[in-house]
Amino acid sequence: MTDKKESITRRDFVAGGASLAATTVIAGCTNAAQTTQKIKMAIVGTGSRGSFTWGQEVVKGYSDVVEIVGLCDINPKRAAAAQKLIGVNAPIFTDFDRMIRETRPDRVTVTTPDGTHARYIIRAMELGCDVMSEKPLCTDEQQCQAILDAQKKTGKHITVTFNARHGLKDKRVKELLMQKAIGEVISVDFHEYLDTSHGADYFRRWHRKKENSGTLLVHKASHHFDQANWWLDSTPVEVMARGELKFYGRNNRFRATNCRICPHKQQCQFYWDVTKNPRYVKLYTECESEDGYLRDGCVWSEDIDIYDTMSVVVKYENGVTLNYTANTFLPYEGQSISFNGTKGRIDYHDFRGGGFRNDELRLTRSFGKSEPVTVTEERRTGGHGGADGSLHDLIFRGAQQPDPLGLRADLRAGALASLIGIAAYRSIERGGQIIKINELVKL
Ligand SMILES: NC(=O)c1ccc[n+]([C@@H]2O[C@H](COP(=O)([O-])OP(=O)(O)OC[C@H]3O[C@@H](n4cnc5c(N)ncnc54)[C@H](O)[C@@H]3O)[C@@H](O)[C@H]2O)c1
Repeated sequence: MTDKKESITRRDFVAGGASLAATTVIAGCTNAAQTTQKIKMAIVGTGSRGSFTWGQEVVKGYSDVVEIVGLCDINPKRAAAAQKLIGVNAPIFTDFDRMIRETRPDRVTVTTPDGTHARYIIRAMELGCDVMSEKPLCTDEQQCQAILDAQKKTGKHITVTFNARHGLKDKRVKELLMQKAIGEVISVDFHEYLDTSHGADYFRRWHRKKENSGTLLVHKASHHFDQANWWLDSTPVEVMARGELKFYGRNNRFRATNCRICPHKQQCQFYWDVTKNPRYVKLYTECESEDGYLRDGCVWSEDIDIYDTMSVVVKYENGVTLNYTANTFLPYEGQSISFNGTKGRIDYHDFRGGGFRNDELRLTRSFGKSEPVTVTEERRTGGHGGADGSLHDLIFRGAQQPDPLGLRADLRAGALASLIGIAAYRSIERGGQIIKINELVKL
């Protein structure tokens, strides 16, 4: 969100002719006052998330308040495909600085692979823009520190787009915890189930390399660690973890580079035909000539270096323990989360597959009754069961609205969610050693 006070400061600064060199801020971004003008938004990374959630969906639902002014990607064919899919005339760029100089956005939305977020977040702020970064904020402690330092230096605003806070049940859980429905929380059991379709997809492309994703402990679990931090309203202090690659990668007899050319199509249960998805054909297969990005990479590739089974224990400042697990090769997909409190338990189940289904939110009071908790329907638009629409509303229309559930996620929230994942993979690298968050960065 563009902060009006920051906008005025920036305009005054430029108008006053102060030397920008001292802070390496270059006159790139403008800062339109949000109340009177449309937000000028540029996007870097025009793949799935950039072209759909921050492209098409924004044009469809928020064109009265947002204008997409520039699209940047290392692959110009993909940027051109995204421009068509989004249906805008915004110019396309492969040079980020040039995009900012020529289109002068208020905000930059960062939807590149996770390991590259930090460089664009920092550069956008240096060029005078506010930033909206997809989760995770960053993938290692050096990137995290560099972002924190750059934000301090530039005074720009960073929003991390944690849509998982916006699920209907997720918000209801936050209300129950704020009302102390189960007294004080002592521990949380959080289990993430990823199946042989969604789970496998992380092993097909860039996510499968630690240098790109920081492993699924950062890429995927940063959603869950952020939810835990938000629900518990506390700060993580210590992390201990185990993780292994037991199913995908080298754990198979045969492999190929990717599914389309695979000689084992008939026998591989993970064979996947990317050409059946017209959107993927436009965004990926028709753009391969430029960057060699294979959307249908082999899940058995021997260079996969992330974990497919993970266990993490997080200790919080308020004494709560989070026990987190994630498995990525399961017959069904979903989550099972329980809050164990001094006066009862909240069970949040949401999983389904193979005819098996449990999607209940339940409150059980100690020495009392167990009852299902009703979740009030609200307007649901956008992906992820409406969570993306709720996030868009908050970001693009809710800047001046109260936020009783604390749904807005700032730089600190983004940093802490990434840092739990980073601490977890550092712990795994060091044989299960306890990692203290405040030894990774200075928050
Ligand atoms: N919040 C959510 O629910 C959610 C869902 C999906 C993805 N995401 C996040 O969105 C981001 C993008 O994911 P995706 O699925 O769209 O990936 P994608 O692979 O479809 O798109 C990434 C794009 O970035 C481009 N790119 C790669 N390196 C670049 C660089 N150095 N500079 C500029 N562009 C570069 C690629 O060409 C591609 O177009 C990731 O950070 C991911 O974690 C969030």
